[in-house]
Amino acid sequence: MHEPITPFQKKPFVLSLGGSLVVPNGGPDTAFLKKLRRFVQVQVRSGRKLAIVVGGGKTARHYIDSAEKVKSIESEDLDWLGIHSTRLNAHLLRTILRDIAHPVVIKDPTKTPKRWNGKVLIAAGWKPGWSTDYVACRIAQNIGTDTVLNLSNIEKVYSADPNKDKNATPFDDLSWKDYRKMVGNTWSPGLSAPFDPIASKYCHKNKMQAIIMSGDLLNVSAMIRGKKFTGTVLS
Ligand code: UTP
Repeated sequence: MHEPITPFQKKPFVLSLGGSLVVPNGGPDTAFLKKLRRFVQVQVRSGRKLAIVVGGGKTARHYIDSAEKVKSIESEDLDWLGIHSTRLNAHLLRTILRDIAHPVVIKDPTKTPKRWNGKVLIAAGWKPGWSTDYVACRIAQNIGTDTVLNLSNIEKVYSADPNKDKNATPFDDLSWKDYRKMVGNTWSPGLSAPFDPIASKYCHKNKMQAIIMSGDLLNVSAMIRGKKFTGTVLS
């Protein structure tokens, strides 16, 4: 367990929500979406504002893989397939949160409203060359917070892929310098890393932190309330 870190109080916070949690396989995970709606309602009731940037999940991977099997395709075009998948997921979230969400899905983080209508801001992919993790970082900067909560299907960052290497060890804390040595600096469409290398470079440069956690929303709530939690803090 990670020791408590400063609770978020009334500061807005940004979730980089892995598409793998929203669309883990062929279609949306309805049970997860129900839990997500309850989680957001509780945050809003506690007076917190939040932005959710959602990824493309399996939809993105299936579309990218399929296009590549038909013919050789430029990276930029593969990224656009991913971006449209994230936008579909963002519309799904905005729809199930319609009563509390800003009515417009944010597609360009440089145009994040300073004040928004509704309690939750939903955002999606922006341009080729990175993932929604990078978009989440840009939004965080725009709304005045230095932390991105990254939720995906992994609990912590490991020294190696725990599915392939029995000696892989998990980290509670890791510096950007060491993390970036592990993931490198290059981007490829559909890349699956705990936190995208381009976003990592941005956070390192701007002295931001990212907290890597699984989709266990009780764990995320604990972290937000300043309790012990399971995850890796990259800073
Ligand atoms: P993500 O990689 O952000 O989705 O976007 P994801 O499913 O959440 O990934 P995990 O769960 O964190 O691993 C899907 C794809 O969309 C394109 C990229 O190709 C990316 O891999 N994309 C997304 C962009 O090109 N630009 C963006 O701003 C966002």
